[in-house]
Amino acid sequence: MKLSQALSRIAPSRTAAMMDRAFELKAAGKDIISLSVGEPDFATPPHVIEATKAALDRGDTKYTAVSGTLRLRQAAALHFARDLGVTVPPSQTMVSAGGKQAIFHALMATLDPGDEVLIPAPWWVSYPEIVRFGGGEVVALETTPASRYLITPDQLEAAITPRTTWLLLNSPGNPTGSVYSADELRALGEVLARHPQVMVMSDDIYAPLRYLPGRHATIAAVYPEIAERVLTVSGLSKSHAMTGFRIGLAAGPEWLIKAMGKLQSHSSGNPSSISQAAAVAALESPQDFLAEWREIMRSRRDRVVPAINAIPGLSTPAPDGAFYCLVDAAPLMTRFGDDEALVMHLLDHGVAVVAASAFGGHNGFRISFAASETDLDEAVRRIAGALT
Ligand SMILES: Cc1ncc(COP(=O)(O)O)c(C=O)c1O
Repeated sequence: MKLSQALSRIAPSRTAAMMDRAFELKAAGKDIISLSVGEPDFATPPHVIEATKAALDRGDTKYTAVSGTLRLRQAAALHFARDLGVTVPPSQTMVSAGGKQAIFHALMATLDPGDEVLIPAPWWVSYPEIVRFGGGEVVALETTPASRYLITPDQLEAAITPRTTWLLLNSPGNPTGSVYSADELRALGEVLARHPQVMVMSDDIYAPLRYLPGRHATIAAVYPEIAERVLTVSGLSKSHAMTGFRIGLAAGPEWLIKAMGKLQSHSSGNPSSISQAAAVAALESPQDFLAEWREIMRSRRDRVVPAINAIPGLSTPAPDGAFYCLVDAAPLMTRFGDDEALVMHLLDHGVAVVAASAFGGHNGFRISFAASETDLDEAVRRIAGALT
């Protein structure tokens, strides 16, 4: 019996592990507030639920085209143009089982052993693992709260080598909440224009959840000179509270979309037919509720950030997007040793959060504030109690 070398290169997801642990403790009767989950606590909108039921009643229960139904790819093209400013025909869109699968297929379709992938750190847990699974080498671009967790053009230029294959960008970012402006992206674009071998994956799955004024900026839209090598990833999981539907969307050059479709044809095949019908309804119906949801998330952020900063030893900048705070707990490391021990201590006090080291960060933890105000207040009270 044996496992593959590729599998041995990767670690299980620590966010999933903490979620599972919190579920287990809750099932065993422990009072746990879980702020470890990366999903909005809102109910899926009723019109999406109705469309799901209608799809079942209509008999939309069979295989579809591998890369998504034409109807959904048309809706995806509408979404990329309307919401992200990326104009592509439906043939340059792709529907996958979650944004995660789109990212997985794009990297698997393009990486060879030794290829370098630049990932700003702290990063979303799955990026480095997928890269390593594909035989690529992770090159971390360290960022700090002082630079709003953004990489700089000089840092990018210095990191690029002839073996650099991808730069992964994620704005708004998980776990930092960092958001790139159009000017900041253009400055990165100018560096990338000098290195035509580098592809860019822009993961904009949290785009509707940004708390800055103005329109969301994504590199394919604001620096179209390199759009031919940019894959923009989006989806409905976070924006439309549809994590369980497993629908991810991508827009990019035709050669890459075709390559991802080739791989998908032999992995999952088409995404769920029922979920695809629901996604059409989600994308084609009015999007006004997103602004309301954003305001709810913003008020939660404004509640949690000062409360965390009032706890001795903890500090966090206010995130500009998504629904996470990356809390620095460096002053507490002499007491706890590392952030994993700190997180376990907090779990003993009834709060599940994820260690910053799970995201390539240091000495801290990520809080998801996609929770009710009551839960957030109680969680902060427990964290304060656990650390005094
Ligand atoms: C930055 C980022 N990208 C992509 C995803 C994938 O989302 P899904 O596969 O649920 O669409 C997540 C989910 O946590 C994420 O945080």
